[in-house]
Amino acid sequence: MDVTSPAYDVERMRSDFPILRRNVHGRGLVYLDSASSSQAPRQVLDAMYQHHRGHHANIGRAAHALAAEAGAAYENARSRVAAFVGARPGQVVFTGNATEAINLVAHAFVARESRQPADPRFRLGPGDEVVVTEMEHHSNLVPWQLLCQRTGATLRWISLTDDGHLDLSRLDRVINRRTRLVSWVHVSNLLGTVNPTREIVDRARAVGALTLLDGSQSVPHRPVDVRALDVDFLVFTGHKMCGPTGIGVLCGRVDLLDAMPPLLTGGGMVATVDLTEATFLPAPARFEAGTPAITQAVGLAAAVDYLNALGMTAVRDHERQLTRYTLDALGTMAGLRILGPPATAERGGVVSFVVDGWEPAAVARHLDRHGVQVRAGRHCAAPVCRRYGVPGTVRASLHLYNTRADIDRLVAALPDVTTARHRPLPPPGVPHGERCP
Ligand code: ALA
Repeated sequence: MDVTSPAYDVERMRSDFPILRRNVHGRGLVYLDSASSSQAPRQVLDAMYQHHRGHHANIGRAAHALAAEAGAAYENARSRVAAFVGARPGQVVFTGNATEAINLVAHAFVARESRQPADPRFRLGPGDEVVVTEMEHHSNLVPWQLLCQRTGATLRWISLTDDGHLDLSRLDRVINRRTRLVSWVHVSNLLGTVNPTREIVDRARAVGALTLLDGSQSVPHRPVDVRALDVDFLVFTGHKMCGPTGIGVLCGRVDLLDAMPPLLTGGGMVATVDLTEATFLPAPARFEAGTPAITQAVGLAAAVDYLNALGMTAVRDHERQLTRYTLDALGTMAGLRILGPPATAERGGVVSFVVDGWEPAAVARHLDRHGVQVRAGRHCAAPVCRRYGVPGTVRASLHLYNTRADIDRLVAALPDVTTARHRPLPPPGVPHGERCP
């Protein structure tokens, strides 16, 4: 049985997702790549269609009826998305994705010696430190690398234990009085680890550092309340939470957002403009230059309505049971090694593994021929692969619509390493054609 609670009827809910009815290579689709991008229910697709069909106009620029309707829909979407994570509407900046949200924060920092005006909390220089973890995906690593290069600050990281957890034994040394910002992932997109928040926030606060939590893999899958988390910034993205691509969220403390400069400038974010200078609107408008992703905001709000109707506790419990089932099923297979915390630990619905003698991409192609969609490679988290000595992994990632039958199909389609032709792994570092390896 996949039913987590009487209200959580996964079979009925699957009928909301038209794509789940299609075939791939003549087989029924098994979609196990939601950590990369999730599928959208008809409620989200319909909301976007109805908005664009009946209410579309640009917002904040005209006094006509359609502009007012579209503007109200956009701001209403902001309110619903904010409420979903326990925030106020003024804390929610719509961005293109989570990557842009992180870059927006990184961009706010200036070199200590710069003449550019900046709030002291956003000045960095030699001797200052930015802390990440060894399990970040590239979006929460590269912006901080560049920031440190730009300002002379030092990048440090919390390293990993052999069983896929953050090693917090040296937390007081890694986060110290030189630390100005700690940015870490809530749930790892490669290991499935659910990371602690309270301990890291408390330590960061004790030394006066800002905190940013990457909720890309947690907000879609479990209850997340930014007030309870007590972080300064939370980022997440629409397309991993049953919403559309092209929209993400930076949720921040209002006093910090108001102290940050815009990343993009132009129309829609200015208060006054003359030929030589301009002043900017308060947050969140100052970060939303140009015509925003109005239809996508409507779709994201429909996605949070959908998730709210299911209940995020029920979603988490369903995925928790299914993750355990997946770990148990894969754990008994010969020649297959699972990365990340043991099955007994709290994990998100991400299961990465390597198959003896098989290049991960070859496993993914093999599964694809059976209609099973998984991601293979380094999952935009190359340092994690390096830490565990693997060139990449095969990753099955779950969402609220997956069932035990999906996992049974995955298991049945996996190559049998005891009989299958041996496929040697490529030498480390050989590119395999992914845009984000
Ligand atoms: N971070 C996304 C993934 O894990 C892109 O697939």
